Formats: sequence, structure tokens, C-alpha cells
Amino acid sequence: MAIQNKIIELMDKRDKARLGGGAKRIEAQHQKGKFTARERIDMLLDEGSFEEFDMFVSHRTVDFGLDKQTYLSDGVVTGYGTIDGRLVYVFSQDFTVFGGSLSEMYAQKICKVMDKAMKVGAPVIGINDSGGARIQEGVKSLGGYADIFQRNIMASGVIPQISAIFGPCAGGAVYSPALTDFTIMSKGTSYMFVTGPKVVKTVTGEVVSTEDLGGAQVHATKSGVTHFVAEDENEGILLIRKLLSYLPQNNMEDPPLTICDDPIDRLDDALNEIIPENPNKPYDVKDVIHTVVDGGEFLEVQRYYAPNIVTGFAKFNGASVGIVANQPNYLAGVLDINASRKAARFVRFCDAFNIPIVTLVDVPGFLPGTTQEYGGIILHGAKLLFAYGEATVPKVTIILRKAYGGAYDVMSSKHLRGDINYAWPGAEIAVMGPKGAIEVLHAKELSEFKDEAERAKFAAEKEKEYKDKFANPYVAAKYGYIDDVIEPRNTRFRVIRALQMLATKKDTNPPKKHSNIPL
Ligand code: HXC
Repeated sequence: MAIQNKIIELMDKRDKARLGGGAKRIEAQHQKGKFTARERIDMLLDEGSFEEFDMFVSHRTVDFGLDKQTYLSDGVVTGYGTIDGRLVYVFSQDFTVFGGSLSEMYAQKICKVMDKAMKVGAPVIGINDSGGARIQEGVKSLGGYADIFQRNIMASGVIPQISAIFGPCAGGAVYSPALTDFTIMSKGTSYMFVTGPKVVKTVTGEVVSTEDLGGAQVHATKSGVTHFVAEDENEGILLIRKLLSYLPQNNMEDPPLTICDDPIDRLDDALNEIIPENPNKPYDVKDVIHTVVDGGEFLEVQRYYAPNIVTGFAKFNGASVGIVANQPNYLAGVLDINASRKAARFVRFCDAFNIPIVTLVDVPGFLPGTTQEYGGIILHGAKLLFAYGEATVPKVTIILRKAYGGAYDVMSSKHLRGDINYAWPGAEIAVMGPKGAIEVLHAKELSEFKDEAERAKFAAEKEKEYKDKFANPYVAAKYGYIDDVIEPRNTRFRVIRALQMLATKKDTNPPKKHSNIPL
């Protein structure tokens, strides 16, 4: 009988913990269109797979009357479970307890799951919904954040780390998601900023709303802080599950292989026609991506940020790849600061987690101008160059149309240890476009023409001469910089063959403490 009572006591305690900050606060959470910490975990993990740690933890602060205000779990739900049968660790901040604010014990709970995830080699997913440092705990709370940051840093490149932001995430608290690999924000219910609108107004006089300062749309389009925007929490949770389906459990494993029912030798005649006759006319490179990958499925990363370059995950014959593609549909696919930063980080993620990189090139060069130069395009462009050159995963590159200037080198060229470099027959590989080249090479002759029509005729002749000589893939192929010129409709098959051939590729970088990528 005694044990029965103890079991009842346990059940009571569990029920109490599950109630978090109480029914009223749960109701308020739902009223805001938000789920609770535990509901989110249930939605995220395979049914019945969640095992919770530290349900009975509570804070040990006595100041400000907090000794009379304790809640089991102390504002964060932690543990492990599975997603599609694969182990993951999770922490989910509970806004119903002190506004999800972080205490010393709360931080210890998060650190515990992160430490376990590192030992076992499994991803960590953090669901953020918090008022930041628990004000009553002072420096203990600040220390707690830094303990988490340190673990984020140590886990970087070892296990995938994913952050969902489903509520407030402000002050120094933003730096934990920023240190993780991917951030997902829910539209309308989440925000991230270092200082909120009130402080902004006091310090700078600027008046700005919470949404305009740090809402999902702002971070998706302007800052690039978030990689995904979800219409609501349901979509956000599905995105996390989908994202994980492309990733390995840790840096010592390969991504999971899935069964592919899309024929590997599927030809697509539309690809032969996809490039417009006029070299200055755009097309959507995502049409190329959807056409060549398994089942047309492509999970785009940072879709709304620097759309002149496209990054994301797809599968070829059931194996994960990271795709990087210049987008002629936006700013002609030019490389600028944001595009370089976006793609560099993506390439480094893929390289850290053994995900081969397929690069589709159609790039007119780097964006000229003072805005770019003053903003440091030299350093930012170098990031992408560095990321490709450092990457040791299989790298397959296809030049679809333009590969001009430094951008030819940067976009996973043979010279940066590109493994297989193909070009479509219409590819133009040269130091610069015909018009610019003629203006440099024939500047003197062009300036001497009195008659404009004759000048134009001369320029057109020279441009044709230049195009015939350089603006084709065969000069690069002659030197072996291009391994083969391939028929566009055959691209899927050729990429799959290349990736199969490279599956056992081994490459290394010299021993060093770490590189010094131009930050
Ligand atoms: C303790 C907090 C809290 C906090 C909220 N609460 N934030 N308790 N510490 N940081 C409590 C509230 O007192 C309230 O308690 C409950 O949580 C819900 O908060 P509300 O204000 O009623 O909710 P809402 O109107 O939705 O507003 C949410 C909010 C606001 C915008 C997050 O609470 C807020 O501005 N909080 C303070 C944010 C902040 O400045 N944090 C410090 C940031 S600096 P009751 O009992 O009424 O339910 C920081 C440094 C980290 O975090 C450094 C790391 C290096």
C-alpha cells in the first residue's frame, strides 16, 4: 500500500509539472495562437517516443519572493525522442513559467541534453519562447546563457543544431540560435532582437514595431538571421522534421539513404530548351533544380534572403546533396555580399556534415559599385571562395550558361578542387562578357570612330570574334578545366553517375588549429 501511495504521489507530481505555469497561463498561450512547450514536443517527435529528463527540477532562488513561487520543470522541458525513428535531443521553453525566462537550473537542464547529444552523436533541437534572462536570478542567469553558448560552439560541426523560434527571443538569448545551424521562425508570433523597440527608441530615437524590428519576415529577407519562415507552428515543426531527413546524425556519419523511385536515367527534353536564346534573358534556375533532383523535391534554405543565389537540400538517387545555384531570375544571378555570405555558410554546413555539393553556375560576375566595395565584397566574396576551396566533400559543378571572371573561379571550379566539372554546350566561360571585353581591348580604335554606325559595326564584329573564341565551353574543356560538355537533358543521369563515382572520395586539408576564414 505504501508504494501505491508513493506512485500516486509521483503521478501527482508529474501532473503538476505538466501543467507548467497553470491552466490560466496555458489558456493565454493558446489565445496568442501558440502551443505549449509540451504540445510542441508531442508534435515534433514520433508518437510516444519522448522521454523527459529533469521534470522535478526547480529553481533555488529566494530573492524577490521567488522561494514562494516554484514550478516543477522550471520553465523548460527537456529530453530525447525520435524523428522518423532517429534519435534527437530536444529542449522546449515554457512561456507559462516566468515567461519562459532562463534561470540557473533551467540552463543546467539544457546543458545536460546538449552534453548527452554530444556524447551519443545526435541532433539537438531547441524550441525558443522566452522573455530572456530571469531577472530575479541576475548573473546566475547570464552565466547560464554563456554555458549554453559554449556548448553550442563545441557542438558546431559535430552534431546538427536546429532552433525554432515560436515566441520572444531577445537580448543575449538570440546568440544561442545564432550559433546553431538552422533557425526557423513562425510568422506573426515570433521575434528576435538584441534590444527591443523601447530601448531602440531611448537610445536612437527610432520608432519601430516589434514585428518590423525582429519579426520573421525581417529576418528572412533583410538580416538573413532565419533560414526558414513558417506560416504557423505546425508548419515550423514539419520543416524541422523535413530538414532532418537530409542530415546525418553527426559529423562522423553519412546522411540517411532513402529509396528512390525516380529513374536515375530520366531524360528531360525541356532542359535542352530552358536557356533563352538571348544571353541577357533570365530563366528560373529552380526549374532546372526541380527537373533534375529525385521527385522534384527541393528544400530551399534562406529562400527570401539574397535570392540571386539559391541554396537548399535535395536527393539524387536517394542520397542527400546540398545545391548551390546562381539565380538568373534575380539580379541576373550576380554575386554580391549577401549571396556570398549565404552560400558560404551553406557550403560549410554541407562540408561539415558529409553532404556532397552540387553547384549550378550561371553567373555574370561580382556586383560592381561603391555600396558593395564599402560593404566589403572583397572579404565576403572571399568567404565563398574559401568555403569551396576548403570543402572536402564530393563537389560536382555544372556550368549552365555564364561563368565570368572571378565568379568562374569561386563557383566550385576545378581549381578549387572541384571533382567533376561539366558544362552545357551553350556555356560561356571567359574573363568578362563580350561587350566589356571589347571596350577594354579595342578602347583606342573605338574612340577614333567619328561615325556612330561604323563604330557599332566594328564593335559587333569584334564581339562576335570574341564570343566565337572565348564564350563557349571548349576552351576550358581543352585545358581539362571542364571534364565534359554534356547534353542538358542528360544532367540528372550525369550528376548521379558522378556522385556514385565519388561516394568513397577522401580528401584532407593540412593539419592546423583552425583556418582563418575572412570573417
Ligand atoms: C522573469 C519574466 C521575464 C524575465 C517575463 N516574465 N519575462 N520573469 N524574468 N525576463 C514573466 C512576467 O513577469 C509574467 O509573469 C510572465 O513572465 C509573462 O510575461 P508578460 O509580460 O505578462 O507577457 P507578454 O505581455 O506576452 O510579454 C512578454 C515579454 C515581456 C515581451 C517577453 O514579458 C518582457 O518584455 N519581458 C522582459 C524581457 C527582457 O527584457 N528580458 C531580459 C532580456 S536581456 P506573470 O507572473 O505575470 O505571469 C537578457 C540577457 C541575456 O535576456 C544575456 C545572455 C548573454
